[in-house]
Amino acid sequence: SNRITLGPLVAAIDQGTSSTRFLVFNAKTAELLSHHQVEIKQSFPKEGWVEEDPKEILQSVYECMDRTCEKLTQLNIDISNIKAIGVTNQRETTLVWDKETGEPLYNAIVWLDLRTQSTVERLINKTPGKNKNHLKTGLPISTYFSAVKLRWLMDNVEKVHEAVLSHRAMFGTVDSWLIWCLTGGKKGGVHCTDVTNCLGDQSAALVGQMCFKDGQAKNTYGTGCFLLKNVGTKPVMSDHGLLTTVAYKLGRDKPACYALEGSVAIAGAVVRWLKDNLGIIQTSTELEKLAADVGTSYGCYFVPAFSGLYAPYWEPSARGIICGLTQFTNRSHLAFAALEAVCFQTREILDAMNQDSCIHLSQLQVDGGMTSNRLLMQLQADILCIPVVKPSMPETTALGAAMAAGAAEGVSVWSLNPEDLTEVTSEKFEPQINPEESELRYARWKKAVQRAMNWET
Ligand code: G3P
Repeated sequence: SNRITLGPLVAAIDQGTSSTRFLVFNAKTAELLSHHQVEIKQSFPKEGWVEEDPKEILQSVYECMDRTCEKLTQLNIDISNIKAIGVTNQRETTLVWDKETGEPLYNAIVWLDLRTQSTVERLINKTPGKNKNHLKTGLPISTYFSAVKLRWLMDNVEKVHEAVLSHRAMFGTVDSWLIWCLTGGKKGGVHCTDVTNCLGDQSAALVGQMCFKDGQAKNTYGTGCFLLKNVGTKPVMSDHGLLTTVAYKLGRDKPACYALEGSVAIAGAVVRWLKDNLGIIQTSTELEKLAADVGTSYGCYFVPAFSGLYAPYWEPSARGIICGLTQFTNRSHLAFAALEAVCFQTREILDAMNQDSCIHLSQLQVDGGMTSNRLLMQLQADILCIPVVKPSMPETTALGAAMAAGAAEGVSVWSLNPEDLTEVTSEKFEPQINPEESELRYARWKKAVQRAMNWET
């Protein structure tokens, strides 16, 4: 058969919280040629605990790669032209495995997991002034991060404890687990990560959206929602509850670039909750129609603080609330309130980011699965009172990881070439409600957040 010659291809494994994807791009044009996606099961063994199976994660990667390559072959595209594969992933999710057997020693503890809340409270109480914000690391003391999860594993799982004592325990985030397995596992797999956690998925989206300049930012709507702003080669500390993090380091001799990050724990996860826990929708895509049917929450506010509240509050004891209910409220209003919640949470981190710097964002670049929801995008522009810009190819996380991997392998990659930037096509959502109405709704949301934080008192 006639093989299509496209030149070099670059690929990415995007292992997210809710699903795994494998995507292949044309390195010269960044065109997405083929991809496959598999949903990942989450288990909730106790209240606040969130786990995933490391073997299922690995298997999903193999399945996605196989299926994508099959699709490429059907398209007569030669898969031997894939010159590099980037790995990007849900960050902070913590795994420990045995380097001799290759077996995971416990489930992956997902970033959303709250089991370390008492450890976190103890650490905060030991800190001068009970300050949870850490100037040395740029991160608050929180259940979110890997160190407390690893401590829990060593203290509570006998197999992990023994493997640590006998020097057989390997620790890593999902990137390290996958790379170790894909490069040979117990027969000499490579145990590595990069300064961000390979490119961690939020860093990869920043690269994929080409936010290479100081002050450029993007917001990714995945399981959670993460707004990252490039602050250049010097880290900037936040006074308003944002994280200071490494954005990327593209090459051994290149400097590390830093970002300010506003992390929201629950975005797409609220859609899954409405589907799996309440059953008010059968598929995620139904949510938009349901919410559009009413076009208002009718005064209902939904704070989905399922894993406490992250930025800018960092309050692990917060819990979800739905308030403002009347007899008139129905599932459509609830669906609308859930979408609004994602937008209000983004507004809170954008406000924090604007307060931290004198240059305010004049528009918001967005990406991620939820951006296909046009109602959400319009609501977001209305609530932020600035335009929201979405690229026509929303898989920017995978594109960023594929670009970075290609560049590392010496493949000339489209998006790293500034002259090509005009090729990006996008859609812009302009604010359509008046700012007073937006402020009123936002003020009510803030009141609901206070209730979520003090729900026990
Ligand atoms: O920090 C967690 C984040 O990397 C997860 O991203 O896309 O799975 O919500 P996502």
